[in-house]
Amino acid sequence: MKGIILAGGAGSRLYPLTLVASKQLQPVYDKPMVYYPLTTLIEGGIRELCLISTPQDLPRFRQLLGDGRQFGVSIEYREQAKPAGIAQAFLIAESFIGSDCVTLILGDNIFYGGDTFQRAFAEFKSGATIFGYHVNDPERYGVVEFGADGRAVSIEEKPKQPKSNYAVPGLYIFDNEVVRITKNLKPSARGELEITAVNVEYLRRGSLRVQRLPRGFAWLDAGTSSSLHEASAYVQTIEKRAGIKIGCPEEAAFRQGFVPLAQLEVIVGAMPNCEYRAYLENEVLAEAKRMKI
Ligand code: DAU
Repeated sequence: MKGIILAGGAGSRLYPLTLVASKQLQPVYDKPMVYYPLTTLIEGGIRELCLISTPQDLPRFRQLLGDGRQFGVSIEYREQAKPAGIAQAFLIAESFIGSDCVTLILGDNIFYGGDTFQRAFAEFKSGATIFGYHVNDPERYGVVEFGADGRAVSIEEKPKQPKSNYAVPGLYIFDNEVVRITKNLKPSARGELEITAVNVEYLRRGSLRVQRLPRGFAWLDAGTSSSLHEASAYVQTIEKRAGIKIGCPEEAAFRQGFVPLAQLEVIVGAMPNCEYRAYLENEVLAEAKRMKI
């Protein structure tokens, strides 16, 4: 399974924050936004990653994440010249995807809790798997309607009259057909290759699976000033209360076995003195050493 992080777009809703740094580089409490989707993919066991962003922002992502080796993964970079739609990612990353199946995660989506994604990645064989999450403002999202048997019957992008409260979060798992399906898409009225159109095509073929995310699972999108602030507050609340970090790719890589203890020690040793380093030292490394004894 390959993984794509889509981190482009105009970021216009966050103006003027996004004048000099893209949305996905903005802080969500104590780390850059892109750390959260990156961590989600690492926790899911995905090691071959491609990050797509604008020509202006790509160098900064490279500076931040490098080739991924500090997280025990490989990261390739591809440019999206214009924000021509989420599904365009599959065309831009066609050579990266090769003959594999692929997960796409939006760079401004933050997920926390449970192992639904890990299991979905492990169980995935063919078709498409997407998710449904109960929200009180479904009209802002792709919306999935379920039939009496619990199967999806329709998916609509930002409907004025939503048929359910289930929004489709920005994490999608597709088989290799996704490239062909996207090539046959026509741009929507707003001129974009819509991810919802891809999902609708899988639904039409009878190969779309929609899993409802459980209560207690958190999905935050950080695309507006207030949702960015709420996401930061949420992360701070959980981290302070539990003494853990959400969206820490070094920790996820270590727990996945992508990075061995000795390498993590070197990586942490090279960090400046800060809370982030202290967490990795005093919680993650210290616990790992205790467990060994
Ligand atoms: O957050 C989940 C929602 O994301 C889904 O429920 C919707 O079905 C889906 O269309 C999308 O809706 P948004 O209105 O949030 O899409 P937006 O245009 O804001 O793009 C989402 C992210 O993807 C954003 O961080 C920018 C990035 N993006 C977007 C487009 C259109 C790109 O990198 N390139 C693009 O061409």
